[in-house]
This record gives sequence, structure tokens and C-alpha cells, in this order.
Amino acid sequence: MTGRLENKVILISGAGGGLGNEQARLMAKEGAKIVAANLQEDPIIAPNQPSDSLWKRTLTLVDDINHNGGEAIAVPLDVTKEEDWISAVAESENKFGRLDVLSNNAGIYYHIGLLEHTVEKFHQIVDINQLGVLLGMKSVIPSMQRVGGGSIINFASIYGISGAGFSTAYQSTKGAVRLMTKSAAMEFVADNIRINAICPGMFDTNLFESSVPKEDWDSMISLVPMKRFGKPHEIAYGVIFLASDESSFMTGADLVIDGGYTCP
Ligand SMILES: NC(=O)c1ccc[n+]([C@@H]2O[C@H](COP(=O)([O-])OP(=O)(O)OC[C@H]3O[C@@H](n4cnc5c(N)ncnc54)[C@H](O)[C@@H]3O)[C@@H](O)[C@H]2O)c1
Repeated sequence: MTGRLENKVILISGAGGGLGNEQARLMAKEGAKIVAANLQEDPIIAPNQPSDSLWKRTLTLVDDINHNGGEAIAVPLDVTKEEDWISAVAESENKFGRLDVLSNNAGIYYHIGLLEHTVEKFHQIVDINQLGVLLGMKSVIPSMQRVGGGSIINFASIYGISGAGFSTAYQSTKGAVRLMTKSAAMEFVADNIRINAICPGMFDTNLFESSVPKEDWDSMISLVPMKRFGKPHEIAYGVIFLASDESSFMTGADLVIDGGYTCP
């Protein structure tokens, strides 16, 4: 039996994090070759960051995939640095001969009031969540053009769809990602490159745990009709769908996976 992503080469940014890790594991099971990219130094974002580094988690992830019959490599990548993207794409092509899919997944979140925002924090989140997504698309598209097509999945959010409070800067980046996706999708449709956005609801990963105070969790979950956090595999299967040829008639779209959060 062949997998849903047989022989596709997939670069995942932020692969050491909660959603990136699960995508890599499930995509490898579907036959993909994985380029797991992450920062080597964790940025200081929030007081409750995990003690083991997300780069270390990326290396463990790659070992696990390779020991379980899959193929994966780890590459250092700061998504705000164009030169890092250029070497990540070159490493993908050197190791696997091509690049078919980018999961533009790396991102950070701040749960702070508007009056607490600083110019420095605003630039940091825009650089990672928005410029990082643009540089990712810019860097992989020539490689995809060389092999006759590809699929890019940009990470937006339900916070790019409706307002939530305490996340103005984050919301500005995720709203921007949705429109950048539509613009790029139109530009490269003739190259057979499909570009879609995924909009996760609330998922209990490092990003959420390190930024949102525990006392706020219940009130946030009460806004989800399904009354629970999503599980990382529930995003990973959405990304697999967008990465695979099953979604061949989709481009410029938002795939919302949120337990009903955006229904009301
Ligand atoms: N968890 C949620 O509730 C949720 C909701 C909506 C959207 N999202 C989006 O999903 C994506 C993945 O988030 P997650 O929940 O897995 O978070 P996470 O914190 O577990 O993982 C994020 C990863 O991005 C990496 N990263 C941060 N800055 C980077 C940089 N400059 N260069 C390269 N890598 C960098 C981190 O090291 C980490 O491995 C993000 O774009 C996030 O905004 C998450």
C-alpha cells in the first residue's frame, strides 16, 4: 500500500514545536521525506517556555523517524533570515533531489493587552509570523517551479479571522498571512503551485502553554463549541490533505480546524 504523500519531499518550519512535530511524524508515515527545520536557539518569548530546547526536540524527531523506517533530516532555520531559507532549500535538494511541499508552520504568540505592546515586541512577532511566511514562500517557489509544481501550507489562525482581545499584534500577522496566501496563490497558479492557509483553533502546545496564564484557560475553552483543545494530529491531517494531491482543486483557501470556534 502506498501512502498519501509517497516520495514527496516536505520542508516543515518550526518542526520542533507541538504542531510541527506531529505533522512530521504523520507525514513520514504517509511516505513523505521530511526536512525538519527549526531555530537552534529558542527566542525569549514568554516566562513559561519548555526547559528542553525545541532544536533538541527537532533532532529527537528526526532520529525517531529514521529509526522507524522513514527518511528525515534536521536543518537549522531562523525563518526571519533569508540566507537560512536559501540553505534549507539547498539542503533539501542536495539530500532528496527536490522539494514538493512547504509547511510554513513556525510562529510565536503573545497573550498581552494592547497597552502592553512595545515596538520591539511588535517587530519580533511580525518578523517571525509574517515576514517568515513571505520568505518561506519566496525561497521554495523556484525549487517547486523546477519540478513542475508544489504545495505550500501557510499557518494562519482563527485569530486571523475574528477578534479575540489580548493579541492585537499576533492577530495582525495571522490576518496578513491569509491575504498573502491568496495573493501568492493567484500569482503562481499557472506554475501548478497551490498555496493555502490553515487556521487552527486552540491547541494545547508550547505556544499556548508558555503564553496564556492557566487561570484564563477555562474561559477560553468555553468559547469552543466542542469544549476542548484540539489535538495536534487534528491539524496534521489537515496539512496532509493540503500537501497531497487529494486537494488538487484547492488554492488560496482557508482550511479552518477549530472545534466550531468561528461558527457563531
Ligand atoms: N497552538 C495553537 O493554539 C495555535 C492556534 C492557531 C495557530 N497556531 C499556529 O500554529 C503554528 C505552530 O504553533 P505550535 O502551536 O506548534 O507552537 P510551538 O510553540 O509548539 O511551535 C512553534 C515552533 O516555531 C519555532 N520558531 C519560533 N520562532 C522561530 C523562528 N524565528 N525560526 C524558526 N522557527 C521558529 C519554535 O522553536 C517552535 O518549534 C504557529 O504558526 C502558530 O501561530 C497555533
